[in-house]
This record gives sequence, structure tokens and C-alpha cells, in this order.
Amino acid sequence: MEVIIRPDAAAACRLTAHLIANAIRENPRLVLGLATGRTMEKLYEMLAQMHRENGLDFAEVQSFNLDEYVGLAPEDPDSYRTYMNHHLFSKVNIKLENTYLPNGAAPDPDAECAEYDAQITACGGIGLQLLGIGRTGHIGFNEPLSALRSRTRCKALSPETMAQNSPLFSDPARMPRRAMTMGVGTIIESKRCLMLVTGDEKADILAKAVEGPITSMISATALQLHPRCTVIVDEAAAAKLQQREYYHWIFDNEPEWDPYRA
Ligand code: GLP
Repeated sequence: MEVIIRPDAAAACRLTAHLIANAIRENPRLVLGLATGRTMEKLYEMLAQMHRENGLDFAEVQSFNLDEYVGLAPEDPDSYRTYMNHHLFSKVNIKLENTYLPNGAAPDPDAECAEYDAQITACGGIGLQLLGIGRTGHIGFNEPLSALRSRTRCKALSPETMAQNSPLFSDPARMPRRAMTMGVGTIIESKRCLMLVTGDEKADILAKAVEGPITSMISATALQLHPRCTVIVDEAAAAKLQQREYYHWIFDNEPEWDPYRA
């Protein structure tokens, strides 16, 4: 794992957008894992801008989102499908039929989850998986005690996650109490993981996720097992990291980051 600290949220999003854009340019048929949440909105704006102004081409990209709420149909205004259509898919030239999210309204949610995992495998696995982190330390919706080898399945949402995400609903009481989520095992099979974390309210959980012991209590700690995981954070989110100086040194000196220093 590598941690890269940027001065503010805009710079952290910009670096993440550049890494995603480079991955698409290297492999125009990239299978891209996508995430939702407030943190990603700025990033998706930047990717849309790169498409408009620099011709970043999504024509052959396939995408798989991490999760969806159980009970919400794709066309529901509060579904993650609607979020993705609004923030990214309608603003770039990705083909909608190449964008996958679990169907929250599927009559058999367990079968839907198993099928979703199988679709990822059929596409050759995820090339680059974008991740945020929830206040419980979840990646996707892998709440505390999610098995580190879990596959896509339904999970009950924790009270903390309900409190974090219900204000995003048109009516907070509409927020479902369950979600379909890629499993921790599914996520860490991705060839590359990029976790983007910004804001001081994430500082405590980020420190536990990155520098604490691996535990199913905090599913993001499983990323420590991943052979190629980059965590991009702003100074505010980095505030509680013990090795901040070292992480700054990496960005300032490692050749991999030369093109991004400017
Ligand atoms: C939801 C998603 C997570 C995301 C989290 C962070 O819970 N399921 O994948 O990481 O939101 O949200 P925010 O960026 O709003 O803090």
C-alpha cells in the first residue's frame, strides 16, 4: 500500500482523476470499478471535464459499481444507478449497456448478487477499483464483521451508516436498511485499488484503516493485503496518520510520481 497526501480535496481528486485517465489511455477497454458518495462528486466532475476538453474516451470502458440499496429500482431518484447516471455516465461517452450496478429491485436479491459477481468474472475481473471509505471503515457497504473473503451479497447497514447516508435521501426515512455490495474478497481481487479520502471527519477512521491491524471490524484494513493499492488523501484526512512525513517523502521523491508533481 502507498499513501499519497495532497494539500486539499481538489488536489487529491485531481490526482485520482489523472490516475484513472491514464489507466483508460493505457487500456481503452479497462474494466473500471466505481464508487458513490459525496467524495466522488468532484472527481466525476473532473473526469467529465477531461472527456469534454481532452477527449478522454470511455467508449470501450466497462464499469462495475460497488453497491446498490436493496429495494430501490434503478430509476428510483435515490438509487446509486441514478447517482451514477447523473454524476458521470450522462457526462461522458460510456455506453450505458457497459455500466453495471446490482439491481436493487431484483426479485431474488441473493441470486442478483451471485450473478453480479459472475458478471465481474466474465468481464475478466476489475482492472482498477475506485474506493471511498465510510465512517465505519467500510469499503462498498462492507460493514463491521464483513468476512475478508466475502463475495457480493446483501448486508445490513449499521446505525452509523444510516446516519451518514440518510441525509442524502429525498426523504431520510426512505433509506433502505440493507444494501447489495461487492464483497471484500471481490474488491481485493481487483488488479489495482485506488482509495480516495478527504476531509477531517475521515481522519480517525483513515488512520485505523491504513496503519491499524487488519480486522473484519474495519473492512478497509483488508486493502493492506492488496499488492497494488494507492490511498490518496488530503491533509485534513491525513491528520492522524503516524507516518505522514514518510508518505510526503514518497510523493516528493519516487519516480512514479514525477509526472504529477508539477
Ligand atoms: C457510501 C458508499 C461507500 C462510500 C461512502 C463514503 O457509504 N457505499 O462506497 O465510500 O459512501 O461516502 P462519502 O464520500 O459521502 O463520505
